[in-house]
Amino acid sequence: MNVITILSLIFSTKFVLGANIILIIADDLDLVLDGMIPLQNTRNLIGNKGMNFQNCFVASPICCPNRASILTGKYQHNHYVVNNSISGGCYSQQWKTTFEPNTFASQLKNKMGYTTFYAGKYMNQYGVNRDFSVPPGWDWWAALVGNSKYYNYSLSINGTQYAFRDRDTDYLTDSISRMAANFIKTRRSDENPFLMVLAPPAPHAPFTPATRHNDRYKDTKAKKTGNFNTPMQKDKHWLIRMGPSPLPESILPRLDEVYRRRFETLLAVDELVLNVHKSLTNANLLNNTYIIFTSDNGYHIGQFSMSIDKRQPYETDIRVPLMIRGPGISPKTVIAPVSSVDLYATILMIAGIEAPSDGTSLIDTLPLDRTLLIEYRGEHSVGLPSSGCPTDADPNLQSCSKFYGCKCQDVANNTYACIRRVSKKYNNVFCVFEDDEAYIEAYDLNSDVDQLNNIGKTMKRGKRYKFRRRLKNMSICQNSGCMR
Ligand SMILES: *[C@@H]1O[C@H](CO)[C@@H](O)[C@H](O)[C@H]1NC(C)=O
Ligand SMILES: *[C@@H]1O[C@H](CO)[C@@H](O)[C@H](O)[C@H]1NC(C)=O
Ligand SMILES: *[C@@H]1O[C@H](CO)[C@@H](O)[C@H](O)[C@H]1NC(C)=O
Ligand SMILES: *[C@@H]1O[C@H](CO)[C@@H](O)[C@H](O)[C@H]1NC(C)=O
Repeated sequence: MNVITILSLIFSTKFVLGANIILIIADDLDLVLDGMIPLQNTRNLIGNKGMNFQNCFVASPICCPNRASILTGKYQHNHYVVNNSISGGCYSQQWKTTFEPNTFASQLKNKMGYTTFYAGKYMNQYGVNRDFSVPPGWDWWAALVGNSKYYNYSLSINGTQYAFRDRDTDYLTDSISRMAANFIKTRRSDENPFLMVLAPPAPHAPFTPATRHNDRYKDTKAKKTGNFNTPMQKDKHWLIRMGPSPLPESILPRLDEVYRRRFETLLAVDELVLNVHKSLTNANLLNNTYIIFTSDNGYHIGQFSMSIDKRQPYETDIRVPLMIRGPGISPKTVIAPVSSVDLYATILMIAGIEAPSDGTSLIDTLPLDRTLLIEYRGEHSVGLPSSGCPTDADPNLQSCSKFYGCKCQDVANNTYACIRRVSKKYNNVFCVFEDDEAYIEAYDLNSDVDQLNNIGKTMKRGKRYKFRRRLKNMSICQNSGCMR
């Protein structure tokens, strides 16, 4: 984008260059299973006041790889964070030396003098090997050590480890909310702008609500989508075909429990959003601040008889909430297809920086016909599996649990790439698995919203060839080449 376009944007829409930016990233929050229901303030104060995206897809349906995509604006094949382990790039040496110096935080701080603030979950492996140092790009730093927790966690605060216990006041979402409000209080509207990222643990496992929210959704049951607890799906990839399908009856109340407890954990996130909004209003900063709300990946609960997790190429797992409010943005529902990789270009554009990325700015004119890429690398068990399930004999399988009927949620060959196209005419997904069947799954979402009918095998050869070629090109795309 050149200066003329930036200026015309400012004058045509009152878009404010160099405004403050707040990015809120929920953890495992879906759109398809109605995960936004408990987030009433969030919907009212952000979604209904700005752009509410209906077609936002993740670059990878798993925490660490997609958080890396958010921070860098790159698809997985370009940032090399392929799973949640250090060996898979998650807070690895390569990530630290090659990618961290160029995250949106580093860009905004170094090039535009933003004051930057991070609180909450960062990369899953952060601090796990007791390196609590502050990554480049951040001035104020309060990052969770390791993966999602609600109580009994540690934060690295500006590089020093602090342990929190399980008093009510320790609840992590509330700690993040408090620190955010305290930071906003120190800001004045006539000083340099700030960038703030807030990453609460909700609604990730172990689904622990704040005490005050216990049982608030006591009678809520898991959403029974058209593909909930289906019998054996012969047209799905190997992991889904592996039983039991449907899940045993005794498991279903456990799925209800997870569903409602996820809702309950989100109530504190909704209070955090309200608190941030209030703090901005009190500090006279609201009209000069963009607020972006999204999630690192979606979630399934019982779809295709998979108990609870993400990691699958289906809509539940890859489609996430995204909403943006701020100066110059008028309320609208946006159907244009967008990706997690677009957040980087968006944040840079607000700050007035140009840098290459695999995405496009969301406050620019968006293409209404776009093909997005979704990449996932299946994880095997770490160490010897000890779930007590018969599958323990196969260390390629992961996340198998007796409590959930011994249906495993991942396997090393659950490795795939998909292209997801949304346009006026098309709404489809085409995936190829890197297993020994080179399995293809493809769905026409216009006629099959529940993805019950895999058309990968039945479509005409010529059509399949075109999909394959497009997928191959997307799988190696870089920068603007990903927008073709
Ligand atoms: C963290 O560092 C920032 C920037 O140097 C400083 O202003 C802030 O007071 C520090 N916060 C804490 C809790 O030490
Ligand atoms: C926190 O840790 C303490 C000490 O290990 C334990 O007794 C308590 O049950 C834990 N609380 C939660 C909510 O996990
Ligand atoms: C925001 O509001 C304040 C006070 O009402 C005003 O001085 C300022 O110019 C406004 N900023 C923008 C970007 O509209
Ligand atoms: C993560 O990815 C790395 C690199 O491909 C691989 O060596 C490792 O086994 C993977 N970890 C898991 C748990 O699958």
